[in-house]
Amino acid sequence: MSGTAEGARNNQVYLKQVPQGLLGPDDMEVRQAPVPEPGDGEVLIESHYLSMDAALRLIVRDSKDFLFRVEPGDLIRNSIAGKIVQSNHPDWAVGDYVVAGVGVQNYAVSDGTGLERCDISKAPLSAWLGGYGVSGLTAYFAIFDACKPQPGQTVVINGAAGAVGTMAGQFAKLAGARVIGIAGGPEKCAWLVDELGFDAAVDYKDGDLYEKLVEAAPDRIDFIFDNVGGHVLDESLRWIALHGTVLLCGSTSQYSQDEMAGPKQYIWLGTMRARMQGFVVFDYADRFETARKHMSEWATAGKLKFAEHVFEGDVQDFGQAFHDLYSGKNKGKMVVKLPAADS
Ligand SMILES: NC(=O)c1ccc[n+]([C@@H]2O[C@H](COP(=O)([O-])OP(=O)(O)OC[C@H]3O[C@@H](n4cnc5c(N)ncnc54)[C@H](OP(=O)(O)O)[C@@H]3O)[C@@H](O)[C@H]2O)c1
Repeated sequence: MSGTAEGARNNQVYLKQVPQGLLGPDDMEVRQAPVPEPGDGEVLIESHYLSMDAALRLIVRDSKDFLFRVEPGDLIRNSIAGKIVQSNHPDWAVGDYVVAGVGVQNYAVSDGTGLERCDISKAPLSAWLGGYGVSGLTAYFAIFDACKPQPGQTVVINGAAGAVGTMAGQFAKLAGARVIGIAGGPEKCAWLVDELGFDAAVDYKDGDLYEKLVEAAPDRIDFIFDNVGGHVLDESLRWIALHGTVLLCGSTSQYSQDEMAGPKQYIWLGTMRARMQGFVVFDYADRFETARKHMSEWATAGKLKFAEHVFEGDVQDFGQAFHDLYSGKNKGKMVVKLPAADS
């Protein structure tokens, strides 16, 4: 028996070409296909939310260096949150909510491999892509495991108003640190302080970033939580503290560049006996449930907010939503909410 609406079709978004500059709708092609039928041991998933992840811009580059590339002609790969609408699988029932890495489409068949069960009594379905999902888990382990800031130390987080940054700032505050966000525009900066409890926020698009950091962090910077790289990282490196740490989470500013550039101000690492450390969230997969338990407790106690930017649209709007993400239109995790969403 089909759990899909009569006449339903499956819109799918493919990469048309390697993008130049920002990735947007012109780089993508929307195709329509019939809704697939699950076979024995398979389920049919209906997409309700599309995850918008800055890292997609990195894997659509024309470079053989990356393991997880999306090439022209490929379905664009990303995570969705949705519902099982048909099941021939003993472990999954119709009505179960899941996160799945099935790409940008309305429907997908899965044999259950890699499906993540979502208990929506713990967090809304969309949050399983954001604060309660990979973005929040990234921030959690980067702060509590890789950085471990102590009370009174100063953490500077760039990309602070984004999916990872909003969570990282709140976690660093919970650790007792003094937290300074770097984000684009005065409105985002005010929001970080007023809504999320950052101690200060600095607009990297206006004025001398280095001078503003010196003013906001008079005792220098113990931890640079780097989401964006480039000029923003460079100006922060000039003010790193003795034995400071740079946590390399991402390099959003470089992903769209023809030539990705490394830090120019690395010399301060030597002088200040500081270090740079790489980080990948999937190294912590066996502890995700522990992290979510803590997040749930903090959220219930009013100490943690899952900030979300909902783009209402359909699968074919993915390209515009992604362009909006890189234009900085989001505060918190951006998701595309699809018409099928019921929670
Ligand atoms: N290491 C890991 O395991 C891991 C896991 C997940 C994500 N990541 C990384 O974390 C970073 C953040 O990802 P996200 O999904 O949370 O994205 P996001 O921060 O929600 O969205 C991207 C933001 O980047 C900012 N931005 C865009 N272009 C910029 C530029 N040229 N310079 C400075 N800022 C720019 C914009 O904010 P403004 O308005 O402030 O410019 C935009 O809102 C990415 O680099 C991603 O690859 C790493």
